[in-house]
Parts: sequence; C-alpha cells; structure tokens
Amino acid sequence: LGVVLLLSGLGAILVSVVGAGAMVPTPAGRVAPADVRTTPPFDNPGVREIEPGKYEAVIIAQIWSFVPNEIQVPAGSEVTFRVTSADVIHGFFIENTQVNAMVIPGQITEVTQKFDEAGEYLLICHEYCGIGHHNMWGRVVVTE
Ligand code: CUA
Repeated sequence: LGVVLLLSGLGAILVSVVGAGAMVPTPAGRVAPADVRTTPPFDNPGVREIEPGKYEAVIIAQIWSFVPNEIQVPAGSEVTFRVTSADVIHGFFIENTQVNAMVIPGQITEVTQKFDEAGEYLLICHEYCGIGHHNMWGRVVVTE
C-alpha cells in the first residue's frame, strides 16, 4: 500500500508538471534591496502604458507602504505589476483578482492581471511585515 501511495503521489506530480505545466515560481529579475530606489525601473515607480491597452505598474513595497499606493487604469486594461521590496518580505494581494504574490527582498515579482470591471480594487500586504503591517495597503482604480 505504501508503494502504491508513493507511486500515485509521484504520478500526480508528473501529471501536474508535464501535463498542466505547473512549476515553482522563479524571480522575474533581481535587484539589490539597498539600491532599489536608484535601479531602473524602480527609480521611477508608477504606471505607464507600454502598448495600447497594456500597462506596466512599477511598485516598491517597503515598511509600511506601497510606492505608489494608488494606480489608475481604464477598464479593459491588462496590467503587468513589477514589484520589489526595499526591506523585508511583503505580500501583494489585490481583492477580486488572481493577484496573490510574495514580494521578497532582492527579487522582482511579476504578475499580470486584466481589469475588465471598473471600480476600486483594494491592494494589501498579506505577509506580516512588522508593527505597521495592517496599514500597508493601496488601491487600483479602474476607470470607465
Ligand atoms: Cu508589508 Cu505586511
């Protein structure tokens, strides 16, 4: 029974990796935490249109805020978030979306989300990062 369970577990992993393309997340890039504010693109955080309907949002996570803490895009936009930490591990979670990532010092976290519905989406840090953790939030404003 032990061997059967072991083999079925290995089989499940194989199906996930080969069949469904599951993989361990890897950093989209690296940046020295001490130099974040002088290293492109984090020396100029904010949102910019990279092609029609597609935006890049460069965000620094730090104790205890996101810089910038609000971005605005029109409805129907696809936004690629590039986030890094200037100090400790933070979280990057946007309500009512698939965006749920860790932000690790030294690494760049990249996640893409399409915003079809206009409205305000709360962005929160969901990794405990110290005494001001509960104040670490921002928002994505999707306009009509
Ligand atoms: Cu940053 Cu919790």
